[in-house]
Amino acid sequence: MDGAEFFNHFNQPDVNLTRLRQISHLKISRSYEIRLPLLWSEALAGKINGSIAANTGVGSVAGILKCLLVGAEVVMTTSSLLRNGVGYTKILVDDLERWLEVRGVGSLGGRRGRMNRMNIGDAAEFKQKNYIKTLQSCKQSPWTEQEKMAM
Ligand SMILES: Cc1cc2nc3c(=O)[nH]c(=O)nc-3n(C[C@H](O)[C@H](O)[C@H](O)COP(=O)(O)O)c2cc1C
Repeated sequence: MDGAEFFNHFNQPDVNLTRLRQISHLKISRSYEIRLPLLWSEALAGKINGSIAANTGVGSVAGILKCLLVGAEVVMTTSSLLRNGVGYTKILVDDLERWLEVRGVGSLGGRRGRMNRMNIGDAAEFKQKNYIKTLQSCKQSPWTEQEKMAM
C-alpha cells in the first residue's frame, strides 16, 4: 500500500416526522469536523506501511498545519473550494508560505509528525494524560429548544 486517505463525510440521514420521509441533505464540512481525521492520522501515522492523506474540515492554514503536525503527509480539501471557489487554493498556499516565512521555517518537513505521540516521549503516558485532560475539559451545556424537540 502506498497510502491511505482519512476522511469523514458520510451521508448522515435524518427522519422528517411530519412527512415520514428520510431527509438526506449533503452538507459541506465545517472546521470542527477536522477532529476525526486528526484522531486517526495521529493514531496511525508511522504504524501503517504508507503515507497518510488527511481531509475533512480542512479550510485554512491552521487546518493544514494540524494535519501535518499529527503525522499526515498530504492534506486535501473540497468543502473550502465549494464555499470559496477554486481560487481559494492559491490563498491557502500563499497563507501557508507566509506562515512559514514569518516563523523563519524553511520547509514543512521538520514539522511533520511533531505532535504525534511517537515523537512525544512515552506514548502510553501521553495517551493517559490526554484522556484525563479531555475529561476535565468536559462542560455541561443545556439542550437547546430545537434539541429537546428532536429527542
Ligand atoms: C459535492 C461533493 C462531491 C464529492 N465527490 C466525491 C467523489 O466523487 N469521490 C470521492 O472520493 N470523494 C468525493 N467527495 C468527498 C471529498 O473528496 C472529501 O473527502 C470530503 O468532502 C471531505 O473533505 P472536505 O471537508 O474538504 O469537504 C465529494 C464531496 C462533496 C462535498
